Amino acid sequence: MHELEALTDKTILSHQDEAKIASTEFENIQKRYQDLIAKLPHAKGWFEKAPFIGYCGHWIIEPLLAGCLHAQDFFQARPVDFFICSYPKSGTTWLKALAFSIVNRSRFDDSSNPLLKRNPHELVPFIEIEFAFFPQVDVLKDKGNTLFSTHMPHGLLPESISNSGCKMVYIWRDPKDTFISMWTFFQKQKFGSGPLNSLEECFDMFCLGFSGYGPYLDHVMSYWKAYQENPNKILFLKYETMREDPLPHVKRLAEFMGYGFTAEEEEKGVVEKVVNLCSFETLKNLEANKGEKYREDIPLNAYKNSAYFRKGKVGDWQTYLTPEMAARIDGLMEERFKGTGLLEHF
Ligand code: A3P
Repeated sequence: MHELEALTDKTILSHQDEAKIASTEFENIQKRYQDLIAKLPHAKGWFEKAPFIGYCGHWIIEPLLAGCLHAQDFFQARPVDFFICSYPKSGTTWLKALAFSIVNRSRFDDSSNPLLKRNPHELVPFIEIEFAFFPQVDVLKDKGNTLFSTHMPHGLLPESISNSGCKMVYIWRDPKDTFISMWTFFQKQKFGSGPLNSLEECFDMFCLGFSGYGPYLDHVMSYWKAYQENPNKILFLKYETMREDPLPHVKRLAEFMGYGFTAEEEEKGVVEKVVNLCSFETLKNLEANKGEKYREDIPLNAYKNSAYFRKGKVGDWQTYLTPEMAARIDGLMEERFKGTGLLEHF
């Protein structure tokens, strides 16, 4: 009995020690990143208290930059891992839901799918957010999970991703809608960064390349270039094209991920089921994604789950931008993408 008690005490103590060592190590690493970040160029951000920090040609805010550095140093991709890559507000949540449904479709039936109870971001972790700061979330403890996501531009991805030959999907979206989606999303932030600049100011900054993980057009180009160099490893999707007719793209995505739908599944309407479950209308109206709900697996959420589902419309920019603003951003896009083959691809 005594022995057992002693053993139990020791075990508890050693777990506490382990946790202490881990947390000291984490703090030391974070300190190292903070020292590096302090030396990098800073620029005015969209929020008063969240300056952009210039890193390798991109602008990233804190603590996301520290998260990116952490992922670069510690994320070990395995060949089976699959990455959902995107610029923020261009369709990440939708793609996470689709990838999750595709990969797990034989594990769950219509009523037991975790997507019905949890926000897609809980089921597919960001390597620069959950992996870096919340390693305790259950999806990261589940070594069977092979789905990860990131907003990092291609050039900043951890080396282990390309070394392991992992596949990835990238989704991009009309910059006008991406901008509006981002500005309206930031308005819903509950705490943290102080007041948000006006739409006009943020728009000007977005056009000049100052936006989180921006310049946006360079972000798209980073993946387009990688796709051209390695078309077997990257699937390139566009939000608007998928919105018009999701089914063929969902089939392509499944095929690309190595989870293609069988003829029997197609006959039984399994593809339609995946499309319907992940549709904007279905996800937005689930209890988990409505009202005041926050995800429960991480502390201090700056956004409610509902913030990830706004209108899901193509062309909502028309409600906010003047024709001059639209022409400015369209011109920049045409200029940046000219001769790259991207615009002709869709
Ligand atoms: P809007 O703000 O234009 O409505 P991200 O997931 O990258 O944060 O992008 C968010 C945008 O995708 C938001 O656009 C959101 O409404 C839309 N969205 C979220 N879930 C969606 C889904 N299942 N289908 C289509 N669009 C979706």
